[in-house]
Amino acid sequence: MSAQAPRRGEWGSQIGFILAAAGSAVGLGNIWRFPYMAGQNGGGAFVLVYLVCVLVIALPVMFLEISLGRATHRNPVGAIRAVAPRSAWRALGYLALLTGLGILSYYSVIAGKVMTYGALYIRKLFIGEAVTYHGATFEVVIYFALFIVLTVLVVSGGVQRGIERWAKILMPMLVLIMVAIIVRCLLLPGAMEGVKWFVTPDFSKITPRVILNAMSQGFFSLSLGMGAMLTYGSYLSKKDSIVVCGTSVVLFDTFIAILAGFMIFPAVFALGGNPAAGSTLIFQVLPKVFGGMKGGVLVAIVFFFLLCVAALTSTVSLLEVVTAYFVDERRWSRRRSVWTIGGAAFVVGLPSAFDMAGLRPWTSMVFLGKHGFLELMDFLWGNLSLAIGSLLLCVFAITVWGLNNAGSEIEIGSPSFSRYRGLWIFFIKWVCPTFIAIILASKLFS
Ligand code: PFF
Repeated sequence: MSAQAPRRGEWGSQIGFILAAAGSAVGLGNIWRFPYMAGQNGGGAFVLVYLVCVLVIALPVMFLEISLGRATHRNPVGAIRAVAPRSAWRALGYLALLTGLGILSYYSVIAGKVMTYGALYIRKLFIGEAVTYHGATFEVVIYFALFIVLTVLVVSGGVQRGIERWAKILMPMLVLIMVAIIVRCLLLPGAMEGVKWFVTPDFSKITPRVILNAMSQGFFSLSLGMGAMLTYGSYLSKKDSIVVCGTSVVLFDTFIAILAGFMIFPAVFALGGNPAAGSTLIFQVLPKVFGGMKGGVLVAIVFFFLLCVAALTSTVSLLEVVTAYFVDERRWSRRRSVWTIGGAAFVVGLPSAFDMAGLRPWTSMVFLGKHGFLELMDFLWGNLSLAIGSLLLCVFAITVWGLNNAGSEIEIGSPSFSRYRGLWIFFIKWVCPTFIAIILASKLFS
């Protein structure tokens, strides 16, 4: 064990963990990224592969991450050091921190974009300006900065309490408003085409790239592979059930992603749009939906507000992971940590913000990509890095920590897990690492 005594709090209750972890999981990944990925990767085929990956790969990894956090009561670097002092495995902890910073940088840009839409609709309510898809605006940069500041303020205040209380009311509201929007979209003529496209898998579309994207989307959406669940698990009490907590988060998160699909694709097909439009998909489609809806302006304001809250509970977890490291291991004050990391995320995120603000020709020229800089960042951190992080975590558990230790940790608080322990070990030892490695290799070396 490393030198310092654990000086850490615990969640008030199991439901406290579930809310915070579900808050981390549910966010732009479900509502912005899932439809954009499904749209670019063959619709129903992607959805099917996604569901299989969540069940077979992400769920076992979720138990593993939470258990390593609870067993060690540490941040990602500290947790690895606690199990294997002075080993090179520390690098995996640092990779987690870098990934946290990388995702935080561009994720806040998308959140800033969501805020610009909220603001536009508020303006429309009062001044009556029309709202259409707008790509080019520097407002994005301003709102991006604002969103980072909001995240910093929440995390510097010692995190959970307030957010937990709000999440309890606002998350169910988000579900309700999404259901209302779905009902409206399904009534549009031609909407059923979209439903069909979303639920009917075309098996010929399943390629290594589609599988990589679906698998990584599972990690992204469930906040796995970079220590967020590990860090949240480090505040979990031994009385609580990792199985109940992990499974609830997975079910809820998957439910929201599927809802988002039903919200976007019927509208794409009914109102004319390209499902493969990429990272701007929801911003192209939703204004059209709200435009044709009675009371659409109000619905839009409430929806974008709730989406901002969902994004905030996710950025809070991203920042918390890196902060926990600087506070625990480097002895920085919480204030200094959050402002420094927030500042770094702003600088790293600027090219993504310029990209979103319509300077794509410039950013792609500088960074040599046919996609914009934001999509490049999303691919590197949101796709590759989370998959690599999850793979290495499995290998770490197999070779260093020991799957029996992990299994025993999970059993504390969930005695009935003993019946599935062998199955879980089989998945973490064979299925998950083999699958992730093959998919990564086939993508990277093809
Ligand atoms: N799970 C979040 C979402 O779906 O929006 C994004 C995310 C948060 C990814 C935290 C990774 C993470 F550690």
